[in-house]
Amino acid sequence: MTPLFALLFDSVDQRLRLRKPARKTLNKVFPHHWSFLLGEVAVFSFVILVLTGTYLTFFYRASTDPVIYTGSSSLYDGVRLPAAYESVIRLSNDVPGGLLFRRLHRGASHLFIASTVLHMLRILLTGAFRQPREPNYLLGIVLFMITLGSGFTGYSLLYDSLAGTGIRIAYSSLLAFPFIGDQLAFWVFGGEFPTGDVIPRFFVLHVMLLPGLLIGLVGLHLAILVRQRHTQFPRRGVDGHQFILGKPLWPSQVAESATLVLWIGGLLAVAAVLVPWSDVSLLGPYVPGEVGNNAQPDWFMFWLDGMLRMFPAFEWSLPGVTINGVFVAGILLPGLVFGALILYPFLEKRVYRLEGDWHVLQNPLDIPLRAGFGLGTFSAILFMSAAATSDQLSRITGVPIEGVLWFWRIMTLFAPPLLALAIYRYSRRRLARRDLEVAPGESAESQDLAGASPAHD
Ligand code: HEM
Repeated sequence: MTPLFALLFDSVDQRLRLRKPARKTLNKVFPHHWSFLLGEVAVFSFVILVLTGTYLTFFYRASTDPVIYTGSSSLYDGVRLPAAYESVIRLSNDVPGGLLFRRLHRGASHLFIASTVLHMLRILLTGAFRQPREPNYLLGIVLFMITLGSGFTGYSLLYDSLAGTGIRIAYSSLLAFPFIGDQLAFWVFGGEFPTGDVIPRFFVLHVMLLPGLLIGLVGLHLAILVRQRHTQFPRRGVDGHQFILGKPLWPSQVAESATLVLWIGGLLAVAAVLVPWSDVSLLGPYVPGEVGNNAQPDWFMFWLDGMLRMFPAFEWSLPGVTINGVFVAGILLPGLVFGALILYPFLEKRVYRLEGDWHVLQNPLDIPLRAGFGLGTFSAILFMSAAATSDQLSRITGVPIEGVLWFWRIMTLFAPPLLALAIYRYSRRRLARRDLEVAPGESAESQDLAGASPAHD
């Protein structure tokens, strides 16, 4: 430490008494496994999103009022466009670095959402959600919902035909709510869609409320992680409940994270130069009433889009309330998926009668219920997502759209439960085989918990 820096540090330490907690934090041990990098990728891509988004905010206009485009793109020269769409065309063609920042922002958003999904899968499949980490798991689900909300409000801001179609679907889903649908949709959208309020409101959500919540809640997520310490994969000869095997935060983990930041930044920059995503002129501005079949949402909304496409249009009118297909597909079923994710840790705890704290991760196949539930749910989401491509599939294969939709309906209904059952049975048989090999006479359930024992405080 240089004398000047040491003097400064001593003087701060005298006042804030930081030396001891700082040393403890810098010595914090991080377990070594690639899957722990997924959460870090999410954190770093979120930082890139905030930085690039700040630049875009200087030039974006959150309004749907018509304006005449006078920028350098010949495609829209002199054309009346919604101000939001016009400002994005201007950003792409006339603002220095505008297109680069737009592409970096887009790329970082895909990476952020993809790494969050994979991080969630690793938490779920390896049992990192077990006591005492249920609060952090539940907080993670809230983070995931906010992440999806950020993605949706983000691509809605372009106000191109994809954005408008997506917003209209969201409006119809709220409208379909029994009892309070009209009031809810009008309250959120400021009237009957399309309204002039929707883009300004989505803008506030996208650039202030949701990122603010993410910053605060990711901070809390990491603070809980530090307080509870990491889980780790089992290591022969090491009691993982007593000791963590890994590297200290300073300097090893910091060096590894710095390398990761450089990789993420580099890959996003290369992708921004090579991949022409965010071409806003591709679909044209949103024209109310027009629904383009080419309007395909971003991949992370495919499962919701697919569900809405597959679900048959019906209406049950009971006294005082109407329930329709849009409500079931757009609100009820996604609610069930999130409900299942929220309840799963508590279900598993009951089924396997788990007690105490658990710090050692597991092979998902060692826990048949988890393997079946996790992969069954994931495959259901994949089939729903695949249904979002029905228009394109119908065009490519020549099969009528109804035929394609029926195919995905059948797959979504039957394949995931069958897959879940097959994985469950395979895992049980695998455990029974291991039972015979390792400890004849022990039940499969006791082997289910292999690699874990109650923690010592
Ligand atoms: C905005 C999105 C998120 C960010 C930025 C984030 C970030 C992180 C980071 C950096 C870690 C430590 C490294 C690791 O264990 O991978 C972590 C741990 C954890 N995360 Fe997340 N996370 C997010 C969403 C989620 C979600 C969706 C869930 C689950 C539903 C979740 C549950 C957990 C749990 C339980 C831990 C502790 C795991 C352990 O100790 O092994 N997180 N998170």
